[in-house]
Amino acid sequence: MIVLGIESSCDETAASVVKDGVELLSNVVFSSMDLHAAFGGVVPEIAARSHVESIIPVIDQAVQSVGWDKIDAIAVTYGAGLGGSLLVGVMTARTLAITKQKPLYAINHVEGHVYANFITKVSVNPKTEVRNPKQMTKSEISTSNIKHQKSKINSLTNLWQLGDETYVLPSEQPQFPILALIVSGGHSQLVLFRNHFDYTLLGQTRDDAIGEAFDKVAKITGLPYPGGPSIAEAAKSGDPNKYKLPKSKLDTPYEFSFSGLKTAVLRLAQEIIGEDYRFPSFKLAERLSETQKNDLAASFQRVAIETVVDKTVLAFNEFQPKSVVIAGGVAANQELRRQLSDRIPIGIQYTDPKLCTDNGAMIATLGCFKAMLGVEPADPYTLQIEPNLSM
Ligand code: KG4
Ligand code: ZN
Repeated sequence: MIVLGIESSCDETAASVVKDGVELLSNVVFSSMDLHAAFGGVVPEIAARSHVESIIPVIDQAVQSVGWDKIDAIAVTYGAGLGGSLLVGVMTARTLAITKQKPLYAINHVEGHVYANFITKVSVNPKTEVRNPKQMTKSEISTSNIKHQKSKINSLTNLWQLGDETYVLPSEQPQFPILALIVSGGHSQLVLFRNHFDYTLLGQTRDDAIGEAFDKVAKITGLPYPGGPSIAEAAKSGDPNKYKLPKSKLDTPYEFSFSGLKTAVLRLAQEIIGEDYRFPSFKLAERLSETQKNDLAASFQRVAIETVVDKTVLAFNEFQPKSVVIAGGVAANQELRRQLSDRIPIGIQYTDPKLCTDNGAMIATLGCFKAMLGVEPADPYTLQIEPNLSM
C-alpha cells in the first residue's frame, strides 16, 4: 500500500510518499516560516498564499521518484489548523483524487503526528542512497544531538539517508497499548491508543499549548521566531536552576496549563531589570543581558518540560503501556527526550526531529493504516475542512 500524504494545516507545505505505513519513499517540506518571522508568529493570509504557490511543486517533487502509477491512495490533513491553509491542501487532494482516480483519506492532523513514530525505514530507489543498519560513530551520535544512556544507544542506530537528509528512526514500530504525549504549537495532550483508531484522550491543556508557551517566552526574551528551537538553543548556555518558576497544580491528573508559567516568566523578566508589571513586554528584550536571557530560557524549558514529563510518568504508571511515543513539534526538544528517557523505565525510541514538526510523512503513514485496515475513504467531491477538529 503506497500512499501520498499532503499536509498544509499551518505554515509548512508538505508532501510525502509512504509504503505500508512503515517505509519512507520521499519527504518534501517547504516552510513559509521566513515570511512570518518579521511578525513574530504565523500570519494566516501569508501562509495560505504561500501554500497556493508551493503545493503543486512540493507534490510533484514528492511523487517524482515514485511515479503516480505506483500510488494507491491520497491522504490529506482536513483539520485541525488554519482555515485558509487547510483549504489549499484539501482542494488540491480532492482534485488529484478525482483526476488520478485514487481513494482519498481524510486525516486528523494531531492523530497524524503520532504516526510519525511508525516509520522505521527509508526506501531503496535509484535516487536514494541508503545506509542501514549501521553503527553510528561517536561523532554522529553527538552531532545528532541525541544523548542517551549507553544502554539505549543500540536502539538508536537506525540511521538512514534519503536524498541529502539523514534520518535517525526507531528500529521497530511502537506496540499497543501506546501512550502518546502530543506536544505542538496548538496541542498538549496525553492519549492512550489501545489500537489503531481506538484511543482515549486522557487529558489536554486548559489554556496555552506548550509550543505556544515556548513561542511566547521567546518573544518576551527577544529570541527569534520560531520560539521552540531558539529557546532550546539559548538554554544550552543557560543555568536551568537559576530561576524558580511555578509548575501548574491542577486537580485533574492529566490536564495541563501553561498560561501561568508564561506570565511568571514575564513578571520575572520585569523583576530582573528592576521594573514592575507595568513595564511593556516588547521592551524587555533590549534590557536583558545575554546571560539573563539564556538563564530564563533554560529555567523555563526545564519547568515546562518537567510539567509534561511528570504527567507522562503518572499515566505510564497507571496504564502500563507497551510503548511510549512523543509527537508534535515540541517532541523535537532534546531536553524532553532526556528527561523522559531518564524517568520512564522502558526504552523509548524517538523519531527523527524532522518528522516531529509538520510533515507529509505522518499523514501518509496514517493514510496507509486507514487503507490497509479497510477504513471507508472520504468522498472527493464533498470533503470539507474542519479547522477546530479535535481528537
Ligand atoms: O507540530 P508543529 O510543527 O506545528 C503544530 O502543529 O503546531 O509544532 C510547532 C511548535 C512550535 O510552537 C515550535 O516552537 C515548537 O513546536 N518546537 C519546539 C522545538 N521545535 C519546534 N519546541 C521546543 N523545542 C524544539 N526543539
Ligand atoms: Zn503539527
